[in-house]
Amino acid sequence: MTEKSTYASTRRPRPINPPQLHHATFMTLDVDAMVRWYELVAGLQPVFYSEGAAWLTNDAANHRIALLRLPGTKVPVDKPHTAGLHHTAFEYADFDQWLDNYVRLRGEGIVPALNLHHGMTMSMYYVDPDGNGVEIQVDVWGDWLKSKEWMWASQEFAADQLGAQFDPDLLVEARAQGLSVDEIQKRTYAREYLPAEENTVNLPDVWPARLQEQPELTEGVLEGSSGTLPNR
Ligand SMILES: [Fe+2]
Repeated sequence: MTEKSTYASTRRPRPINPPQLHHATFMTLDVDAMVRWYELVAGLQPVFYSEGAAWLTNDAANHRIALLRLPGTKVPVDKPHTAGLHHTAFEYADFDQWLDNYVRLRGEGIVPALNLHHGMTMSMYYVDPDGNGVEIQVDVWGDWLKSKEWMWASQEFAADQLGAQFDPDLLVEARAQGLSVDEIQKRTYAREYLPAEENTVNLPDVWPARLQEQPELTEGVLEGSSGTLPNR
């Protein structure tokens, strides 16, 4: 018996006009902490902001990230090993802006938990106050078409989808020494800027430390607590 693939048996397996990716929505225990963090890290500002929810954007869309503090929301258990969203991602078009953002955030005490040169992007993975990953990337090829073609066709990506870890401070140093963007990217992919200790793709669990600092979050958002969303 031959099993037919979806593509063979379905007349229209995908829409002719697909919808575009628009936003991601998180459940949270603390809207304020998340709003502050996303504004600081990626310049997202609230278009609508209340005690129970917020909608944030950093471009022309009415929102890119939404936050809901819904009654009954609980503290995640072992978030780094829980199925679901690993990270959202934001992109700089320019290497220097990308690295400058790292330096700015380092000055604020916010550093990435993981850094990878994947071949098509250089990516820093931060962790938001609730433990969700946020990737800030720059495209290595500076052109989405070339970047997509490399990912699709290159031997390198077929062999290794993670790529090279790096220490962003070494990139800052290399830039200060006058190395070109191209040279820095090549050396990074060649593992010349490895961190002292490599990190795992499972981002760290922020909750044990956070609950020590804010024990009031332990019980989550109580059922029946009044948010500002219409109750339906
Ligand atoms: Fe990503």
